[in-house]
Amino acid sequence: MSLNFDSLFVGDVPDGGRVAPVKRGKYDFAVAYPDPVSLPNEHIVESVAEALAENGSDLAIYPHPQGNTLLRQYVAEKLSRDRDINAGVDDIILGNGSGHPIELLCRVLINPGDVVITDDFVYGGTLNNLRKQFADIRGVQSDASGMDPEALDATITEAKSQGKKPKFVYLIATFQNPQGWTLSEARRKEILAVTQKHEVPILEDDCYADNRYDGESVTSIFNLDDTDSVMYVGSFSKIISPGMSLGYMTAPPSVLDKVMGIKTGQRVSEFTALVVEKYARKYLDSHIEKINGIQRGKRDAMLSAIGENFGTSAEWSNPDGGLYIWMKLKDGVDMVALHKKALDEIDVGVHPGSNYSPDGVSGKNYLRLCFGYNDSDEIQTGISLLSDFLTKEGALD
Ligand SMILES: Cc1ncc(COP(=O)(O)O)c(C=O)c1O
Repeated sequence: MSLNFDSLFVGDVPDGGRVAPVKRGKYDFAVAYPDPVSLPNEHIVESVAEALAENGSDLAIYPHPQGNTLLRQYVAEKLSRDRDINAGVDDIILGNGSGHPIELLCRVLINPGDVVITDDFVYGGTLNNLRKQFADIRGVQSDASGMDPEALDATITEAKSQGKKPKFVYLIATFQNPQGWTLSEARRKEILAVTQKHEVPILEDDCYADNRYDGESVTSIFNLDDTDSVMYVGSFSKIISPGMSLGYMTAPPSVLDKVMGIKTGQRVSEFTALVVEKYARKYLDSHIEKINGIQRGKRDAMLSAIGENFGTSAEWSNPDGGLYIWMKLKDGVDMVALHKKALDEIDVGVHPGSNYSPDGVSGKNYLRLCFGYNDSDEIQTGISLLSDFLTKEGALD
């Protein structure tokens, strides 16, 4: 007889589907994959050889609890150069991607029922981390320029009047996922003025900061804050590959200390960190320039295909960077049902908008289209198939 674990599990843990296959479309606009052809595999191989020749014996030792020191030094230098963030090597903690530090921050800050503020549509991975902590997630509406500071003020004021001062505001200020906008410096300052007035911290997720195809870089919120109220996460996923599984965070010292209190036993691969440090110092800047050129072309291909095929029957974003187009269809369209049908019938993968709403239900008539993976011809074909499919389903006029 087998032991039955059912009565032993902690409450509300969903079944993850151990062997559920990830079904991907031939035209894969669903997940944020980068261009597979330009992955820098040769330079990575070269960096493996160099890293092992120079530091291979370090692999005999368990890594520093905050992650490899050489890579933390590189991250500190990059943040200072590119994001105007002055963090010492001791102020950086590496993670297995940036989702890992986001999870750790959620764990040290959120008790069940605590209010956390996000955009009205926002990255689903963070929503899931917030849900795991049973946060009361409240979305603030955004306009084409991002989160509305007055609406933020009203949302914080309302939560405080209910005795629930928010734990933090989560912001993807540059090339927001999925909406695509970037907060201007002025808007960042307006948002900071609101959060500082209410003494509510910000968690700034800056994982797309390097993926700019047009326009000028905007400084980080971390830099604009003078009250030690911003926590910051970044990643190598969008500039090398998600398969590297390397990200990082910095934050005020008391937050870093707490994070280290629960990170025990969660190692970040020393091998990967040594390789990425070698690779990044030699090649990362030129690689970013190269992939930005490629992704600019793919964004333009998707925008022109959408323009040709969707005409006036939808509204969509026109982002200066990042990986997504955010599209709104007419009220009543149910992309939750249609996205599954599209995958089966036309081999096109998209994500329904409700994946990005704090309540998990709103936004069914929106979809997110990622232009990173397919080439421009495939993008053209996939978008044309999608618009024919949506027309057939009555989703377009
Ligand atoms: C806004 C945002 N933050 C964090 C992540 C997590 O990325 P990773 O854990 O691979 O660094 C993603 C991935 O798509 C993202 O879009």
